[in-house]
Amino acid sequence: MLLGDLYLLSMDRIVVQRSGPLAGEVQVPGAKNSVLKLMVASLYGEGTHELTNVPAISDVKTMGKLLESLGLTVEHGVGESGVLRLTNSGTIATVAPPELVTSIRASINLLGPLLACRGRVRLDMPGGDDFGSRPIDMHVAGLTAMGVRFDINDNALSAEVDHLIGAHITLDFPSVGATENLLTAAVHADGTTTISNAAREPEVADLCDLLVEMGAKITGIGSACLTIEGVPRGALHPVTHAVIPDRIQAATYLAATAIAGGDVIVRGARPQDMQVLLSRMNDMGLEITAVPGGVRIVSQGRMRAVDIQTLPYPGLATDYKPLLVTMLAVAEGMGVVTENLYPGRFRYVEELSKLGADIRTDGHHAIVRGVEGLRGAGVVAPDIRAGAALVVAGLAAQGRTVISGIEHIDRGYDDLVGRLVGLGALIERVDIPVTQPQFFAN
Ligand code: EPU
Repeated sequence: MLLGDLYLLSMDRIVVQRSGPLAGEVQVPGAKNSVLKLMVASLYGEGTHELTNVPAISDVKTMGKLLESLGLTVEHGVGESGVLRLTNSGTIATVAPPELVTSIRASINLLGPLLACRGRVRLDMPGGDDFGSRPIDMHVAGLTAMGVRFDINDNALSAEVDHLIGAHITLDFPSVGATENLLTAAVHADGTTTISNAAREPEVADLCDLLVEMGAKITGIGSACLTIEGVPRGALHPVTHAVIPDRIQAATYLAATAIAGGDVIVRGARPQDMQVLLSRMNDMGLEITAVPGGVRIVSQGRMRAVDIQTLPYPGLATDYKPLLVTMLAVAEGMGVVTENLYPGRFRYVEELSKLGADIRTDGHHAIVRGVEGLRGAGVVAPDIRAGAALVVAGLAAQGRTVISGIEHIDRGYDDLVGRLVGLGALIERVDIPVTQPQFFAN
């Protein structure tokens, strides 16, 4: 092997040791699943759009490059960190580079705005975490009802429309992505569009709020029935908007404290967006209270197992599940976990088992029998949230847990390691060449 190859293979790892009790305060950054869609909204409205509370995550960089490839100018960290400026000069391309489109799921969110602003689009199939099949049939059916013509094969889609027409659409399932594409297309449709059984996630409401600030006419925000009154092209204008805090990152610091023990305030966490999660954590014996500007968690002694099932908002988010499974792995008793959104979203269970967790999966169920303690090992992050859950698991494991595949974590977490260090966790990010397998033998 050449030295150059060795450098190429060298990748960051996160190394965690048993930690706790954690103490202090941690600030939650802006939400990935909000900011990526808010960035796309800069396709409407010539001029400079400004987003604040933008998380420093790699998906934001990828979306920035994607929008630059369409003709926007994207400036990160202007004036202060967390600020993103996107300038739309009025010239927008309709074909995006496949290598960028296929690396993030949110690239599918270009569909609605490009149809609304340009009347046509060509996209490769979006990427993102691999939870098994992630179809886009509801996006296509809803847009077809608004007059869009599609040409789709396994790898790419082309779509065009002369005039988007308002329609009454009922989704089979409250899909986040489908709701967002339909409402962003409807913004410039002729007449009124209603979306029934719409997704109610806070991130969808954040996108609606931004569009309304820009001049769109949307009512029913936050409910399962959105009504969009189309406005002419060119009627939307740039604004400055703060991204809502990330409830999944907030949950990660709550789970870390739950596992390691301690007394922590998660600043920026919005209890109203996390009600079911907080109530399940209470059921597990954790003391959770809303405090001004955040949520406080006090964790003492061993947690109790509970059963959980994932559901669309306001139910328990599928993105919380790897964290909850990790908590159940060391809780007292047995918990049954049911995944109702992505049947394939249990890939991290094998990695948790390497740490000594006792988990059996059957279809979309997992049975988690709590063990007294975990032991450190080398594990691989299969996706964003599972990667963070493995980091959290490492806080409860004797010895050293070495997590690789952390480019997944970087996609959605803004300085997870630094924030945990701030709470007293024994964790560091190191560069370990993959040619030294002895690091993984602990
Ligand atoms: N679905 C269909 N057909 C469609 C659209 C969705 O069958 O046309 C199914 C999906 O296969 C899935 C379910 O509906 O079983 C929910 O999918 P949804 O469209 O709601 O999810 P998404 O928009 O692709 C977003 C987040 C995910 C999060 C889900 C659910 C983004 C970029 N991604 O995905 O976040 O898990 O909603 O809340 O917003 C993450 O952040 O780690 C992440 C994966």
